[in-house]
Amino acid sequence: MNWLVSLTIVCLAVQCSTAVQYPEDVYSSLAFVFDTTGSMENDYLQLKSHAESIMNYVLTRNNTDIKHFVFVPFNDPDVGPVTETFDPKVIMHKLNQVLIRGGGDCPEMGITAVIRALKVVKPNSYIYVFTDAPPKDSHLVYDALELIQRKQSQVVVLRTVHDCISTDKSYENIASLGSGNVFDVNKEDVSKVLQFVKTSMDTNRVNLMSVNIPQKQLIPFPKKLNIDESIKNLQVSVSGLNSNIGVVNPVGKKMDEAHGLITDLDLKNVKIVNILEPIPGEWTLYITSESAHTIRACGISTKNFDFGFATSIPKNMTQTSHRPLKGAKNYILVNCPDVKKFVSCKIQDLSSDGTTEALPILDFGKNLLLCGPFIPKNNPFYVQVFGMNNNGNYFRRITKTSIIPNEPDAPYITTTQKAVGVVGGELHINCHVESLVPFTVTWESLNYPQQAWNFSQSSEIELVVRNVTFQHEGIFTCGAQNIAGYSESTTNVTIISKPTIAEGSDNVTLVLPEGGDYALKCTGQGIPSPLMIWLMNGSPVSSYSDHILVVNDFRRLIIFDIPLGDSNVYTCRAINEAGTVEKNYKIVVKGETPFPMIANESLIINELDDVLMNCPLTNMNHKWLKDGVNINDLVYKRADEQHFKQINRSLKIYELDELDNGVYTCMSSNETYTFHLRIAFAPLFIKYQPETMMISKNETVVFDCRARGFPKPRVYWRKLESAFPITPWTLKDTEYLEDKQVLKIHNIDWIHNGTYTCIVKNKLGSEKRRFELYVF
Ligand SMILES: *[C@@H]1O[C@H](CO)[C@@H](O)[C@H](O)[C@H]1NC(C)=O
Ligand SMILES: *[C@@H]1O[C@H](CO)[C@@H](O)[C@H](O)[C@H]1NC(C)=O
Ligand SMILES: *[C@@H]1O[C@H](CO)[C@@H](O)[C@H](O)[C@H]1NC(C)=O
Ligand SMILES: *[C@@H]1O[C@H](CO)[C@@H](O)[C@H](O)[C@H]1NC(C)=O
Ligand SMILES: *[C@@H]1O[C@H](CO)[C@@H](O)[C@H](O)[C@H]1NC(C)=O
Ligand SMILES: *[C@@H]1O[C@H](CO)[C@@H](O)[C@H](O)[C@H]1NC(C)=O
Ligand SMILES: *[C@@H]1O[C@H](CO)[C@@H](O)[C@H](O)[C@H]1NC(C)=O
Ligand SMILES: *[C@@H]1O[C@H](CO)[C@@H](O)[C@H](O)[C@H]1NC(C)=O
Ligand SMILES: *[C@@H]1O[C@H](CO)[C@@H](O)[C@H](O)[C@H]1NC(C)=O
Ligand SMILES: *[C@@H]1O[C@H](CO)[C@@H](O)[C@H](O)[C@H]1NC(C)=O
Ligand SMILES: *[C@@H]1O[C@H](CO)[C@@H](O)[C@H](O)[C@H]1NC(C)=O
Repeated sequence: MNWLVSLTIVCLAVQCSTAVQYPEDVYSSLAFVFDTTGSMENDYLQLKSHAESIMNYVLTRNNTDIKHFVFVPFNDPDVGPVTETFDPKVIMHKLNQVLIRGGGDCPEMGITAVIRALKVVKPNSYIYVFTDAPPKDSHLVYDALELIQRKQSQVVVLRTVHDCISTDKSYENIASLGSGNVFDVNKEDVSKVLQFVKTSMDTNRVNLMSVNIPQKQLIPFPKKLNIDESIKNLQVSVSGLNSNIGVVNPVGKKMDEAHGLITDLDLKNVKIVNILEPIPGEWTLYITSESAHTIRACGISTKNFDFGFATSIPKNMTQTSHRPLKGAKNYILVNCPDVKKFVSCKIQDLSSDGTTEALPILDFGKNLLLCGPFIPKNNPFYVQVFGMNNNGNYFRRITKTSIIPNEPDAPYITTTQKAVGVVGGELHINCHVESLVPFTVTWESLNYPQQAWNFSQSSEIELVVRNVTFQHEGIFTCGAQNIAGYSESTTNVTIISKPTIAEGSDNVTLVLPEGGDYALKCTGQGIPSPLMIWLMNGSPVSSYSDHILVVNDFRRLIIFDIPLGDSNVYTCRAINEAGTVEKNYKIVVKGETPFPMIANESLIINELDDVLMNCPLTNMNHKWLKDGVNINDLVYKRADEQHFKQINRSLKIYELDELDNGVYTCMSSNETYTFHLRIAFAPLFIKYQPETMMISKNETVVFDCRARGFPKPRVYWRKLESAFPITPWTLKDTEYLEDKQVLKIHNIDWIHNGTYTCIVKNKLGSEKRRFELYVF
């Protein structure tokens, strides 16, 4: 087989995160990392119920994008097992089953547990750590930070007061370099903190300022903060002993509780205040604290920026990596929607008290900014972007997490987990490879030859398979090799096919006799099996109405006792993920042809009524003929004076009955004029038939409901035991004869046992018969 394959490099617009997100991955996770060592015993029940209340909060929030839940218990030395689920009940169950035990010495394996959680969470997630001890695996902090950067996730540590004396700052590092917090809480503070935690769970949080002050500060040093109009909520938090937060708005007014400032949390070592709907402009913060402290300002805003690093000038975001290459020249590409002018692009070194370095900037097209090049120091840093937006307000943003330059890493690969191809169409599979150094990509699968391509930096690689067949179904692997290693990621490819209709999708016009039965067939095929629906003149038909029945999984639409008014278009539609196909049946119902015009005038008069026929001929010879015979010469009983009366040129007939049917003629010397007279009468059964019949299996039975009547009566058949009409498609071996006046059943079987009725009907009346069929 020779498949046409082509490779294209595509850029996807990447929002809010440097990690490429495919639609199926756009949701975030909520993770609980739970210390289960013996010392937690006292607090376990309470912490568990707090974890549950966070969970409940997330579930009752309607617009939540948290869909994925993770639970990681840790002890000493065991961590795990990790539970990952989309079902919150599973996590509740795990929380209830926690076994508190072990952990003789104080420090526990907390960082390892955080790393395990970070590995499975989706980008932009929330991780809550519940512990009462410092970690003993601090050497892994950088691994955790690497993951925090990649996952852009928030780690919040709730540390209950413990007996262990420790100077370990690992959790603080994770919190301050990531975008989280460490709360050292007494038992009675826990619920206050959790209340705060709940309200701070917002995917639209943006970072406005983050500063570490390594010493106490008793006289406040004013700090400026630019607030743009997109910021709905300003939150300032200070972690430090006995801190105080003063906030002054752009018009110089000091904010207090009476003027829109809300204190969210006020503990000995954490203070958090909140200002709703802050007015845009330059705000000032006055912060004091009796110890080294961290100041952080966040806002709720849908306007954030996206950034990436590259060692040579990137064309677009797909060609960047989420962190810079250590010791090399790096560029930063920033994408910030709604920007009029970039003012500066800075890196803020976190090891000093907020020192920033401005980078050369180069506008790079719409909303894009290229900064650099720069050679990063080995310290963690934030990227700060400052500019003016389209409304003329200044805005400032800093990265959600800190960034640490890195040695070249093995490529980081993201692929769609699932891809669907349609037979005969094109299959597109994307593979995004993030790498700061050149790499080689390979795509392969069982039924697909391996191919390799070289790239100099991060890229989106798209595999396109043309003329897709079912053989392309399977696992496709995208692998990438660079000097630091090899990684791969797979895509599960499913092939589907467009539906077809076995009976052909050509439109059909059917001319059907009034009162008949007809089955329209429509068998939809395709993978996956199509869903079938029937429409009448474009609207779905209900599966059963007075003359429509849909059976056999929508494969058949039966129209029974077709009324004249049923000249409609019936459409059967087969739908699956690959497409839709339709077949139209245009039904034309033909009424009984009116009897041929054999006279100058046709008359239909009800039985027992009188008729007056006026001859229009002026010189009429006063002779009326019936069927060519002078009526005065007729000899049978209807010919007497009481029934016929000739008045001048007219003929009157009294109390009509069936015998009066005929052609009446009047004449003059050179002309004739005729009337065709039909007498209408209610149906009458022609033949008597016993109403109870005993028929043995495999025999044949005939139910005779032949009837006279004018206009010709319609016949309606039912079987009392069935809600459905009797048609060859609803009751096997049935057949109608003589315009449905006779029902014949061949090969009598048990299902035929029962009571049958026929109703013969015209506009003058109806008659009904009942037959009981005993099958033995
Ligand atoms: C793919 O399909 C097109 C259109 O049906 C056909 O012209 C072409 O030859 C096919 N290519 C291969 C490689 O089968
Ligand atoms: C991104 O850059 C690559 C390499 O030049 C290019 O092939 C691709 O079309 C670009 N994508 C967009 C959206 O500009
Ligand atoms: C979520 O939606 C339900 C019903 O639509 C409503 O009763 C409830 O108040 C909503 N909850 C929140 C937090 O908005
Ligand atoms: C990719 O680069 C390697 C090493 O430079 C080279 O051996 C190989 O031929 C290249 N492959 C392609 C497809 O260009
Ligand atoms: C690929 O997806 C199909 C359908 O969703 C599933 O049945 C199959 O088990 C998957 N294969 C693998 C290897 O995951
Ligand atoms: C059937 O009729 C519909 C509506 O008139 C039309 O759109 C469609 O193209 C026809 N299908 C075929 C196969 O002719
Ligand atoms: C009556 O019908 C006959 C035969 O069709 C025709 O020749 C004649 O002209 C008709 N008479 C009148 C008055 O219409
Ligand atoms: C019959 O015709 C004559 C003459 O045209 C008229 O006087 C008489 O009233 C008519 N008879 C009837 C019953 O109409
Ligand atoms: C028949 O005769 C009458 C008079 O005798 C005349 O008025 C009429 O036109 C004639 N009709 C035909 C069809 O010749
Ligand atoms: C009825 O007919 C079927 C097939 O025609 C036959 O197999 C069966 O034996 C017959 N049963 C009786 C009772 O005659
Ligand atoms: C067969 O039909 C008759 C008439 O409706 C009914 O009385 C009888 O109960 C039926 N027998 C069985 C076994 O259903």
